[in-house]
Amino acid sequence: MAVAHYDDLEFEPNLRNVLEQDSLKWIFVGGKGGVGKTTSSCSLAVQLSKVRESVLLISTDPAHNLSDAFGQKFGKDPTKINGFDNLFAMEIDPTASIQEMMDQNPDGGAMNGMMQDLAFAIPGVDEAMGFAEVMKLVKSMDYSVIVFDTAPTGHTLRFLSFPAVLEKALAKISQFSGRFAPLLSQMSGMMGINSNSEDMFAKLEGMREVIQEVNKQFQDPDKTTFICVCISEFLSLYETERMIQELTSYHIDTHNIIVNQLLFPKKDSTCEHCNVRYKMQQKYLEQIHELYSDFHVVKLPLLTKEVRGAKEIEEFSQKLVEPFIPPQ
Ligand SMILES: Nc1ncnc2c1ncn2[C@@H]1O[C@H](COP(=O)(O)OP(=O)(O)O)[C@@H](O)[C@H]1O
Ligand SMILES: [Mg+2]
Ligand SMILES: [Zn+2]
Repeated sequence: MAVAHYDDLEFEPNLRNVLEQDSLKWIFVGGKGGVGKTTSSCSLAVQLSKVRESVLLISTDPAHNLSDAFGQKFGKDPTKINGFDNLFAMEIDPTASIQEMMDQNPDGGAMNGMMQDLAFAIPGVDEAMGFAEVMKLVKSMDYSVIVFDTAPTGHTLRFLSFPAVLEKALAKISQFSGRFAPLLSQMSGMMGINSNSEDMFAKLEGMREVIQEVNKQFQDPDKTTFICVCISEFLSLYETERMIQELTSYHIDTHNIIVNQLLFPKKDSTCEHCNVRYKMQQKYLEQIHELYSDFHVVKLPLLTKEVRGAKEIEEFSQKLVEPFIPPQ
C-alpha cells in the first residue's frame, strides 16, 4: 500500500552504495541496544566479503555478541569466520587495552603514572586511548575494510569524539613536559621514581600522532561512514536524530539508516496487536523518509525467529542489497 511512493526515491533503499564505495576503510554500525546492530553489522560484513578482498568485523560493545550471532567463539585476535575465506572477527574491550598497555610496560615509571592520571582525570580518555591502540594494531593488519559493531549510542559517540578532545589535551601535555622535562626528572628522581621524561615525551608524541591520524581518517567521507540502526518508534527516532546531529558536529559521514524489525501483517490479518503496531511503525517510517530524504533508508522485516548462525545471517544479509518488497 503506502510502499509505492518509496520506489522513485533518489536514494535507493539499500546498502549497495556502501558495497560499491571501494575507498571505504572504516564502517561503523551504531544505535541503541537491541535494535539490531550486531545482526546488521554481521550481515553487512558478509555482503562486503563478496566484493572486497578481506573484511574484519570488530565488536567494541562490552556486551559482545558476534560469538552468539555466528555461533563461534571470538576473542581479541582476528579469527576467520567458519564458512568464509576472507571474513574475520574479533571482540575487543577498548577500556581494557590501556590497562594492558601499562601492564606490558611495568618499567614505564612516571609515564605510567601520568597516563593513569590522565586516563582518570578526563572521562572517556581511557577508551579513546584504548581505541587509538586498537586502530594502530588494526591498521598494521591490512584488511580491506573494517566493520565496527559498536556499543550503544552514547558510548560510541564519546569514542568517536574523543580523539579531538584528547588531541588537545595531549598537545598541552607535550608542550608542558617539553618545557618542564628537566624539572620532572629531577622531581621523580627525588621521589625515587625511575622516570625517563624523554621516553615519556616520545610516547606521548607517538600517541598524539596516532590519534591525529585516526581523527583525520574518521572525518574523511571517502574512508569512513557511520550506519545508523533504529526501529520505527518514537524513542528510537529521537535517539537517531540526536546521534546524526552529533556525528555531523564531529564531521563524521553518515547517509544510511537501517530501520529494523518492521512488521508486515497479512492484508486480511485480524490480529489487533500487529495491525496497530504496523500503523504506528508506518507513521514513523513516513517521518524518517521526510527527515532523511538525503539518506538511504533500508527497511528490514521482523522475522519470526532470531537471526543466529552463519546461514541465517547470510540469508538475512540479502535484504541489505535487494530491492525492498514487503512480504504479503
Ligand atoms: N529483523 C529481525 N528479525 C528477527 N530477529 C531479529 C531481527 N533483528 C535482530 N533480531 C534478533 O534480536 C536480537 C537483538 O539483535 P542484535 O542484532 O543483537 O541487537 P543489538 O546488537 O543492537 O543489541 C538478536 O537475538 C537478533 O537475532
Ligand atoms: Mg550487539
Ligand atoms: Zn499479530
